[in-house]
Amino acid sequence: MTNDKGQKRILSGVQPTGKLHLGNYFGAIKQHIALQNEALCFYFIADYHALTTIRDPQALRQNVRDVALDYLALGLDADKAIFFRQSDVPEVTELAWILATVTNMGLLERAVSYKEKIDKGIDASVGLFTYPVLMAADILLYRSHLVPVGRDQVQHLEMTQDIAGRFNRAFGEVFPIPNYRLDKEAKVPGTDGQKMSKSYGNTIEIFAEGKGLKKTVMSIVTDSKAVAEPKDPERCNVFSLYSLFATDEEKTALAARYRAGGIGYAEAKGLLLQKIDAHFAPARQRRKELGSDAAYVEEVLRKGADRARKEAQQTMKLVREAVGFAARGLASPGGR
Ligand code: TRP
Repeated sequence: MTNDKGQKRILSGVQPTGKLHLGNYFGAIKQHIALQNEALCFYFIADYHALTTIRDPQALRQNVRDVALDYLALGLDADKAIFFRQSDVPEVTELAWILATVTNMGLLERAVSYKEKIDKGIDASVGLFTYPVLMAADILLYRSHLVPVGRDQVQHLEMTQDIAGRFNRAFGEVFPIPNYRLDKEAKVPGTDGQKMSKSYGNTIEIFAEGKGLKKTVMSIVTDSKAVAEPKDPERCNVFSLYSLFATDEEKTALAARYRAGGIGYAEAKGLLLQKIDAHFAPARQRRKELGSDAAYVEEVLRKGADRARKEAQQTMKLVREAVGFAARGLASPGGR
């Protein structure tokens, strides 16, 4: 019914909460960038969501810029994907309100991530509680078909499906019910061996380099086997990380050296460091270039917002009609 030209739409959001790390890269960013060639992709920086945890305008601004530069340096092509800042399309907050009126309290009360966040000490604000409704609005505003997510976001996607269904049943079929794609979990251990996560303080940042990066890699926890002793690659954090970068032959070769003994963890860490440096060298270079132009990121995000906003306004026209609000003139109805 909408002017979608049958093209599949993929959407994902990333919170601007700090420096991106290898867990973000192998768990999400790499797939996001690959998908930009397969469908119409909407990728945005979720700064409305970030406001549930960040109360420092300077830091928020800096984080948004950092995430944008990271994505662009890693290969996001802003001519292909629609790449924008969530708050540049305020229509999403209007949709969030409307969706809130069809969202069941019980549904939100069952949200695991809300409970986890207040357990971690984050303020139990109404915004934090209704976070999943805003996320549903993100997804439905662009009439998305598919959302690539990590395991921690699956419940939010199920909620979005529920909310979209309720809206459609109440007001007519406005929204496609979005599917999610659970990317096969890349196992990315942090320096302490737990899952790599900012909240554990065990990350290896994508754009770290030089001494700082070396120090982080050398701090990866291993057992205390001596150089000569045989080692188990399957139970080594250094080997797991190395595997993310290595070819099958390289993995097999290093595994054999582990089992034979004679390689120490310091040497293995050195090999990992070389891999990280080689893999991200072009992106680091690009990030420096892009970052040196103060206006570049803003320009990219503004163009992305213009494209996103056109789509958002088309959806809101349908939504407002469906619920019984006055039709609101668009600058150019349909937008294209
Ligand atoms: N909640 C997501 C996260 O913390 C970020 C996000 C916001 C998102 N809106 C979204 C992800 C819409 C996918 C779709 O990672």
